[in-house]
Amino acid sequence: MPTSTATSVHAAGDRAGLAPFARGWYLVAWSAELEPRDVVPLRCLGRDFVLFRREGGEPALLDAHCPHLGAHLGHGGRVEGDTIVCPFHAWRFDESGRCVEVPYASRIPPRACVRSYATREHSGMVLAYLGDAGEVPEYEVPVAAELSDPAWTPLACAQITIATQPREVVENVADLAHFKPVHAQIIDDFEMIVDGPRVTQRTVGRGTNLKGERIPVHTVATYHGPAVQFTRLAWAFDMLLINAHLPIDEATLLLRFGVSLRAGEGVELPREVIDAHVAAARDGYFQDVAIWEHKRWRDRPTLADGDGPIGALRRWHRTFYEPRETRRAPEDAQ
Ligand code: FES
Ligand SMILES: [Fe+2]
Repeated sequence: MPTSTATSVHAAGDRAGLAPFARGWYLVAWSAELEPRDVVPLRCLGRDFVLFRREGGEPALLDAHCPHLGAHLGHGGRVEGDTIVCPFHAWRFDESGRCVEVPYASRIPPRACVRSYATREHSGMVLAYLGDAGEVPEYEVPVAAELSDPAWTPLACAQITIATQPREVVENVADLAHFKPVHAQIIDDFEMIVDGPRVTQRTVGRGTNLKGERIPVHTVATYHGPAVQFTRLAWAFDMLLINAHLPIDEATLLLRFGVSLRAGEGVELPREVIDAHVAAARDGYFQDVAIWEHKRWRDRPTLADGDGPIGALRRWHRTFYEPRETRRAPEDAQ
C-alpha cells in the first residue's frame, strides 16, 4: 500500500537536519562548472553549503557557516592549498571540515570544525553524498563509460528549476499511463527491476524523431540512488542522458541533465545536432513540468490496472528516507 514519504521522513528521528530529503548521492555541480580554486555557495536540501575545488583538483563540500562567528564560507571564502579560508577572521578549514589554523590565536578551539560531506568526481559530475552525519555511502554512482569513449560526444549540459518535489520526478518513470498522453509515446513493452539502491526501467516503444517521423525507441533508465539517473536510449543516435535532480527546498528542485551521442570515432557532429537533442530532452521534461507544477501529491492514489508499478517505485524510493539501522532488507522493499 502506498504510504506517505513525508510522514515516514518526519517520523524517522534525527536526520541531522537533512530530513525531509532522501539520503544519497546528489549531483552538486557539473565538473566543468567548478574551476580550480573556485568557491561556490550552494543552497540545497533546505540548507547552506560551500562547494570548493582544492588546489590539488579535488572538490570538497562543507556546511556553509563558520563555527566561529557564523560567516558563510561561500561568500568571500578563498582556497589556499587544500583548505578554505573564512572571509571574516581567516580561520582555515581542511576538506574534512577541521579547523587547521586560527591565525591570531595560540591554540585552535577543539570544537572548531564544520561538517563535511563525501564527494566523488567522474563522468563530468561532481557528486556529494548527503546523508546522516558520519555516514559512509551505501552505494556508488557508476562511471558512465561513454564519456571517456572517443566515439561519443562530450556531455552537453542544461538545467531547469521546477516548482515540484523529488517524489514526482522519480515516480514519473514508473507511471506507465502518462507516456502516451503527455509524451505521445507508445510503450509496447515495459519492465521495472528493483536492485537494492538502484531501480531500472526498460521500455520498448515508439516515439517521434527530430524530423517528426515515428521511430522505435528503446530505453534503459537506471536510478543510482534517489537523485541520479542514467538513461540509455536508442533513438536517432545512441544517446546517454544523465538526469539529476537537486532539491533546493521542499517545493523547488533543480533538474540538471546532460546529453552525449554516439557519433562514431573521429566524427564531429554539428553543434546544431547536439543542441537539438538537448532541446528535445528539455522539451520532454517540460511536458512533465506542466503537470508537476500544478498537481497535488496523493499519498493514497486511486490506481487502475495499467498504471505501472507505482507502489513498488514508492517503496523503493522511501528506503532513502528511512534511518539505515532500522531499514528493512532490500528484498522487503520490493
Ligand atoms: S566567522 Fe569565520 S573566522 Fe570568524
Ligand atoms: Fe514523463
